[in-house]
Amino acid sequence: MRIVLFGDIHLFRLWLAPWHLLSKRVLGQANLVLNRRKRFRHDLLPGMIEKSIALKPDLCLLSGDVTTTSIKQEFDDVAKALDPLTDRVPTVLVPGNHDRYTFTAARTRRIDRMLDALVPDRFPHTRELTDRWQLLALDAAVPRLYNARGRMGADQFELAKRAIASLDETQGLVVLCHYPCALPEHIHEHASHALQERDALRGALANCRGRVVYLHGHIHRPWHHEPGDGSGVPFTCIDAGSPCMVAGGFPNGQGFYEIELPDDPRAALRVKHHVA
Ligand SMILES: [Fe+2]
Ligand SMILES: [Fe+2]
Repeated sequence: MRIVLFGDIHLFRLWLAPWHLLSKRVLGQANLVLNRRKRFRHDLLPGMIEKSIALKPDLCLLSGDVTTTSIKQEFDDVAKALDPLTDRVPTVLVPGNHDRYTFTAARTRRIDRMLDALVPDRFPHTRELTDRWQLLALDAAVPRLYNARGRMGADQFELAKRAIASLDETQGLVVLCHYPCALPEHIHEHASHALQERDALRGALANCRGRVVYLHGHIHRPWHHEPGDGSGVPFTCIDAGSPCMVAGGFPNGQGFYEIELPDDPRAALRVKHHVA
């Protein structure tokens, strides 16, 4: 089974209505004007979408932060930009913290309504990918006033734990979550940017009898690590990165991943990073 994985697209509109002057959106828009606008080249996205379609994937996974300040226009733009791909390929999108950027966007379930064909109805979302591979999609995006912390909540975490524990040695689990739960040793993530259940989730997955492939975004830097490669990760971890972000050694953006799941989950994964 072939998967294409896209990370933090962060489409944005420089747009501020008068009532937004009283909201967190002022900070988001100021950050956009001063900072983000220069670091993102969204004109690279259509080419990447085209390239991903040419790979003939069976599934498209999006690890969230498709928008920047969760306004309606941004979600409209996301739907339009992704349509050539999502129209052809089954797609699962998990929300990122920027997709529930304000309390209003979260309360009115804006991403769930506006991208309802892509975002599962409830979380954790599980589905059979093949007779040996399952998908576990997690929603950890919550609005915060001053930080970017994620939280799954007790109910979702309990159900996820049960799904993880149900696998046997012959099976594989693809986990899709905006937040990482296991980082390579050279990366430090401050608690204010991390998933609240990070260590507990990592522990549950490290004890999983089946093969675990953990896919995430949030840290705008693509990587692929396997256990035993010196990075210290306990299972396969792929950070999708930020496809259109041109900073940090990626003049043509950070691209997207192509992941080929082997029929037997104990076999090697084929992973390819595509850059525009
Ligand atoms: Fe992001
Ligand atoms: Fe994020």
